[in-house]
Amino acid sequence: MFEQHPYGKLISAYIDQAEFPDRPSDLYDPIRYILSLSGKRIRPMLVFMGAKLFGKEDTAEVLPASIAIEYFHNFSLIHDDIMDKAPLRRGKDTVHQKWNDNVAILSGDALLVKAYQELGKCPADKIGELLVVFNQVALEVCEGQQMDMDFETMDNVAEGDYIEMIRRKTSVLLGGALQLGAILANADKVQQQLLYDFGVNLGIAFQLQDDFLDVYGDPETFGKQVGGDILCNKKTFLRIKTEELATADSRSELDLLLQGSDISDDEKVFRMKKLYAQLAVDQYAEDIKQRYTELAYNKLDEIAVSDAQKTELRILADTLMHRKR
Ligand code: IPE
Ligand code: IPE
Ligand code: MG
Ligand code: MG
Ligand code: MG
Repeated sequence: MFEQHPYGKLISAYIDQAEFPDRPSDLYDPIRYILSLSGKRIRPMLVFMGAKLFGKEDTAEVLPASIAIEYFHNFSLIHDDIMDKAPLRRGKDTVHQKWNDNVAILSGDALLVKAYQELGKCPADKIGELLVVFNQVALEVCEGQQMDMDFETMDNVAEGDYIEMIRRKTSVLLGGALQLGAILANADKVQQQLLYDFGVNLGIAFQLQDDFLDVYGDPETFGKQVGGDILCNKKTFLRIKTEELATADSRSELDLLLQGSDISDDEKVFRMKKLYAQLAVDQYAEDIKQRYTELAYNKLDEIAVSDAQKTELRILADTLMHRKR
């Protein structure tokens, strides 16, 4: 997606040359493995773009924060895949699938430590401020992940609670990545906050798109198990809207699908998609995604730099909303 972008190349080059010890191999091989898979590298790109927006051109000073964010993201994916019982990540076996849960837990932990090691390489006069944002974001991601787990077994999840859950598990990391860049570029607090808010609203739209692709993605290009959210009864926007709009007939079909122990995985996904189609919940998801994208653009408009300097972020936001993986 951004492989050919100059920042994308910098990020890949750094990750490709990063060295991890050979032993214990079950600690470090999974780290090499997850980092070698073709992630989109959106969050580390955002760190660079946040810095550039406020005039910071020195890429060497921005790189460590950018890598820290990508390491943190990959750590969160290793653990997320255990929690979601996901078999596939970036078109390949997930770490817990290829090794086992214990290996995935500990290699994830080690990758989180590596993220902090990278943060330690940031310009000394900025580390304190960067850490405050990074730690706040990291804790909120954990909170969001726990809410996501809690929601799986809850009967009634309101739309607003869902949005708050995805704000924490996904969006704050996009906002935080941009803010780290802004901090490195000496932007003032007001500008930092506007850029963070742009990222958070964009991140909400991003997760809505992720939930959509989980159901309607092309298995050839999506890179994850299509239907995975349906199989683990994830309370996505599509599912919440289905509960809200269900008629008596669709309610009983939904109950059957949720309780039915003799329904195969393929059949469960097939029938759930049919329910979604009957209630046209995909259209609601598209509308709300659009709303958050617009909120994001409004925040970007408010930032006190020239319009021309915002072009790159606009292109990135647009690319993300139309992505297929
Ligand atoms: C996946 O993020 C996790 C979510 C928050 C939806 P990405 O879609 O950015 O995953 P990679 O890094 O490109 O694989
Ligand atoms: C992921 O949400 C959020 C984090 C990894 C913190 P998902 O569980 O929807 O992400 P994918 O779909 O597995 O990438
Ligand atoms: Mg997941
Ligand atoms: Mg998850
Ligand atoms: Mg998902």
